[in-house]
Amino acid sequence: MKILVVGGGGREHAIIRSLKKNPSVETIYALPGNGGIARDAVCVPIGATDLPGICAFAREKQVDYAVVAPDDPLVAGCVDALEAEGIPCFGPRANAAVIEGSKVFAKNLMKKYGIPTAAYEVFDDPAAALQYLETAPLPAVVKADGLALGKGVLICPTREEARAAVRSIMEDRQFGDSGSRIVIEEFLEGPEVSVLSFTDGETVVPMISSMDHKRAGDGDTGLNTGGMGTVAPNPYYTPEVADRCMREIFLPTIRAMKQEGRTFRGCLYFGLMITRDGPKVIEYNCRFGDPETQVVLPLLESDLLTVMQATTRGTLGRTEVRFSDRHACCVILASKGYPVHYEKGYEITIPEEVRPHVFVAGAAEKDGKLVTSGGRVLGVTAVADSLAEAVDQAYALAEKVEFGNRYMRRDIGQRALKA
Ligand code: AMP
Ligand code: GLY
Repeated sequence: MKILVVGGGGREHAIIRSLKKNPSVETIYALPGNGGIARDAVCVPIGATDLPGICAFAREKQVDYAVVAPDDPLVAGCVDALEAEGIPCFGPRANAAVIEGSKVFAKNLMKKYGIPTAAYEVFDDPAAALQYLETAPLPAVVKADGLALGKGVLICPTREEARAAVRSIMEDRQFGDSGSRIVIEEFLEGPEVSVLSFTDGETVVPMISSMDHKRAGDGDTGLNTGGMGTVAPNPYYTPEVADRCMREIFLPTIRAMKQEGRTFRGCLYFGLMITRDGPKVIEYNCRFGDPETQVVLPLLESDLLTVMQATTRGTLGRTEVRFSDRHACCVILASKGYPVHYEKGYEITIPEEVRPHVFVAGAAEKDGKLVTSGGRVLGVTAVADSLAEAVDQAYALAEKVEFGNRYMRRDIGQRALKA
């Protein structure tokens, strides 16, 4: 089989490594992939949002299956476009990807179907939003409606900060048109859990739970990032919580989407907060998380391609999806200064024995060498019998990877270990 993977980060690298385990896979094309993915797939310089380019390439190579991994091509209709070419795809169509593409859509869906989430108000007029903030409970959480590279959420402890957030999103358009509407919602407290799930629109199969570490600095300080490390499973996701999530959140969401004529197929990511009143949805993503995928897929024992195809064909209910009972930890090695200013172009050295543990995110090939090209450069994943061992091993492996201005958090997994 010839498979096309749209995207080019650490998540896509992890997906490609798992797909390659299936012996019927002959070739994987990554569009655009990156310098590290090039060791595992044929990278083709077509951007992940170049829908006509992706479709023309898929037609020319007569690919058998496509996996669309990032949010922006999914929201833009990449799956619809590839399906129109007759190519079966993993991922939701645009009308279902809107569950991530519009926070207003997601919040209204949850309200309509009684799915637990933070109380909220929607505004398309800055004056009305500012008026509401005069008496809104604090801290206020201000969210741009559309995609904003994971940065469209501002937690505002004071009225002054909340007003500034509204002005910068709605008036200065800090996140472009994503900020033409906003959600202002209640601040929730509790541990966060990420649950990725496979779904064919009828059946939903949660994957092993995970915990992201979103802040740049140790002890969850500093700016929000795309994610500085992950562990799986997440100790806060107890069997009781899992049971409640299935009944109150996962199944109701899948049914609601179907009811709305927006059947969701692919990976639906539930960003959850385990509050005193039970689990609540913080956000939905229409795709695999990054770097959650780098700990979840190494624990998947079933064949990824088979499971993905079952979501496309509607046969997930008859397909085994089994996870290992071991533990995984992924430590992200970033460029110092990420997520603000950082230098690129430093040579990366990865010892041979560490390579199978590395998922490359921001690296390019230059004169036959791998050099840094992004903020998050790569992730190092270890799998072990206990979380403590997985953490120790991930850090021992991470230390062996060298490049200029290398930065990593030193406390990935510590919160989970203390849980
Ligand atoms: P999101 O981009 O929706 O994932 O939000 C980024 C982060 O902001 C989440 O991972 C949470 O840590 C935090 N967050 C979002 N919404 C809320 C909320 N209502 N209450 C508390 N924290 C929130
Ligand atoms: N790690 C969070 C996300 O992928 O959105």
